[in-house]
Amino acid sequence: MSVHPAEFRAAIGQFATGVTVVTALDGDKPVGITVNAFASMSLEPPLVAIALDRRRYIVPMVEATGRYAVNVLAEDQQWLSDCFAGANVTPSRAAFCGASWFPGQTGLPLIGGTTASLECRVVQRIELGDHLVFVASVEAATVAEPDAPPLLYHRRRYLRIERASTAQVAGKPESAGDAGD
Ligand SMILES: Cc1cc2nc3c(=O)[nH]c(=O)nc-3n(C[C@H](O)[C@H](O)[C@H](O)COP(=O)(O)O)c2cc1C
Repeated sequence: MSVHPAEFRAAIGQFATGVTVVTALDGDKPVGITVNAFASMSLEPPLVAIALDRRRYIVPMVEATGRYAVNVLAEDQQWLSDCFAGANVTPSRAAFCGASWFPGQTGLPLIGGTTASLECRVVQRIELGDHLVFVASVEAATVAEPDAPPLLYHRRRYLRIERASTAQVAGKPESAGDAGD
């Protein structure tokens, strides 16, 4: 018995994730791609994994250098998710989406304004169906904006954490007819 891709996609789409941009170096040039197939794998030692479609343009760079960084996007960085997923925007992904970046502790390109970043070295490459899984050890981890809300992804749409709330009024609430009282 096998599950139809559309059924699989629909079921997996119910699982909400964060959104990351995985960056790497092409020579001394930063490159990046939007990835939500990212997971923490082990605490001691610290290991993470990303799954990339074999056709992704960044795969040769990750394979050549054996390194990548995971940049966890904040909710105001949806435009970066779109651009690094190849949206038709200017500046384009070829121009690193015009994103501000700086070299991290290991020299990998880190994007400014993200909530956190992880600099990783590949320890295992697994061929898995149409994807490649890159398991990596975390060589540096930074929490830049601990309180910035994350960008979320659910059912192929972006999702934000709702912060609106209501609270009981303790004083005298205004009533119709005496507004402004
Ligand atoms: C929110 C989001 C999450 C994505 N996650 C992944 C992923 O985990 N792995 C992957 O291979 N592609 C993922 N993609 C798709 C790639 O970002 C996008 O298709 C790719 O950058 C297109 O360029 P390329 O095929 O030329 O490399 C995701 C796209 C979006 C919008």
